[in-house]
Amino acid sequence: MEMKINFSGRAIRYTEDEIAAVVEAMRTADPLTQGRYMREFESAFARYQGVAPGSCFTTMNGCAALEMSAQLCRFKPGDELVIPSHTFTASAYPYLKKGAVPVWADIDPLTRVVTAESIEKALTPRTRAVVVVHLYGYVADMPEIAALCRERGILCIEDAAQAIGAEVAGRKAGSFGDMAVFSFHSHKNLTTLGEGGMLYVADPQAAAIIPALRHNGHCAYPFERPDYWKPAMGNVDIPRLGDDLLMPSNYCLGEVECALGLKLLERIDTINDEKRARALRFIDGLADFPQLQFHRVESRRHNYHLLVARMTTGTGARDRFIRAMHDEKGIKCVVQYIPLDRYDFYRRLGFGTARCPEADAFFDTMVSFPFQHWMSDAELDYMLASARDVLAGMD
Ligand SMILES: Cc1ncc(COP(=O)(O)O)c(C=O)c1O
Repeated sequence: MEMKINFSGRAIRYTEDEIAAVVEAMRTADPLTQGRYMREFESAFARYQGVAPGSCFTTMNGCAALEMSAQLCRFKPGDELVIPSHTFTASAYPYLKKGAVPVWADIDPLTRVVTAESIEKALTPRTRAVVVVHLYGYVADMPEIAALCRERGILCIEDAAQAIGAEVAGRKAGSFGDMAVFSFHSHKNLTTLGEGGMLYVADPQAAAIIPALRHNGHCAYPFERPDYWKPAMGNVDIPRLGDDLLMPSNYCLGEVECALGLKLLERIDTINDEKRARALRFIDGLADFPQLQFHRVESRRHNYHLLVARMTTGTGARDRFIRAMHDEKGIKCVVQYIPLDRYDFYRRLGFGTARCPEADAFFDTMVSFPFQHWMSDAELDYMLASARDVLAGMD
């Protein structure tokens, strides 16, 4: 069967205006990194998020933002990190590199994200931080989770990599925690040419060290220089937070990507709204097949970065569905987010045990449909008709 709808690695097509913004930055940006486009993108992003100016920092990808947030946690030996097992690996491993011991939290079977209740079950006196992942683009119950973390004196980090623009209680995903990370990877609703990210840091003292942490420890000299070229262009030091010294890296995002990110902020709500409207059309078009259980959300709480469902009739039925969609209809559905405790990576490190039955059950029966924003209406109609046809033919 010829492939008719692929699971594309690219989420959006750029408009001529967006392409022009890139070309303009290519022509005019000086320098090509850490210049005015970066500053404008960071300011506009903070405004979009409704957070303080100076609290958002572009990074070369979401993982780099996670690496720095892990540094800011300043884990001590034995400190634990509560994190859902059902997520992308980059949500977790930067924290493990900094010494955190992961404690896997379960997800809610319908929303597929963690809850205050599932987090609370995983807390111990050693818990230092919680990573809440707004997986698939749906915002977890942040008012309740942030309140729980505050009450227990635990750092709260939002992995909003997939959830840009999604909202709960009138606030944006990634504006509740002590820190938040965003990804502008190729597959995301807002992508800056394939790679890009943003780190939000609420605490102004922690935010103050990010420019140096993000860029090789470059900083100002702590003294007046009569000659601007002596001893050299700039100083290098180790960023310090409290008593801790944090080793720097180079995680900067280039000016052309920042110019594009800035431009895309004008369209992100439209992209999200269009994806949601289509997701609802697809979900409602399959309402008479309750064995395929979607998470239906009409509000901006879900940006439908991904369109996923659970086959309530089991793994065998799920596999038959995906195979028929592929072999008979030329549509490539996939299965995503192996619970992290099942990966060799985490097993080898001794973190291969989790008590997350809902995450396991969801993963074992889940289907992720192709859902790139640029899919045509005709393709969506074909995917809907095909899913109906395949489901009707299954016992
Ligand atoms: C939930 C989640 N966290 C973190 C990341 C890492 O982002 P990046 O690929 O930009 O490093 C991604 C996506 O790739 C993601 O989906």
